[in-house]
Amino acid sequence: MKGVVFNLLEDMVEKNFGVEVWDALLDETGQDGVYVSSESYPDEMLFALVVAAHEKSGIPINDLVRAFGEFLFPQFYKDNQEFFKPGLTLKSFLLLVDRVIHVEVRKLHPDAGLPQFEYVDEDDSELTMIYTSPRKLCMLAEGLIAGAAMHFDEDYTLTHDKCMHDGEASCELHLKIAA
Ligand code: HEM
Repeated sequence: MKGVVFNLLEDMVEKNFGVEVWDALLDETGQDGVYVSSESYPDEMLFALVVAAHEKSGIPINDLVRAFGEFLFPQFYKDNQEFFKPGLTLKSFLLLVDRVIHVEVRKLHPDAGLPQFEYVDEDDSELTMIYTSPRKLCMLAEGLIAGAAMHFDEDYTLTHDKCMHDGEASCELHLKIAA
């Protein structure tokens, strides 16, 4: 994971729980808290921080990861305005994530750990995103989708029909978007 992701996790923890909690997480995981935005760090370092946050707060890991995704979205928006052309909707934006956004991210940062999404574009109000990644961060995807829905001011319901955490080869995130 890129250092920028660790820095944003620090922002979220400090905002919600205070700087002393972040310091305690660093102590518990033996990390120094210095992450260069553009450098890649082992995924295990990020997962260790999330596990420590779970042990400290009692909040389930899935909930923490989803909340982090929701927190990340406005930051991604702020730093990547070029992807947000006028006229986008939640659905047309989500279709761009794998086809354009992550493609551009990969060009700029060939070492970025990016997932793969395939789409089943059912009709105007429905979309299935089939998520595959060795990191199994499907709850992060759920949180990012929630952040995007907030950004576009659209309502949706999501069912997580298949999940890699249940031994499936990929996760199926099925969205029904309100008219
Ligand atoms: C402006 C929008 C977006 C930008 C700029 C962006 C960029 C990135 C970057 C840079 C990473 C890699 C981080 C690393 O290597 O440490 C990443 C990972 C990821 N992105 Fe995106 N992303 C965007 C939107 C989304 C959305 C809307 C979704 C969900 C549908 C999504 C799903 C994910 C997931 C789940 C990961 C974690 C890696 C994994 O699952 O293997 N992204 N993204």
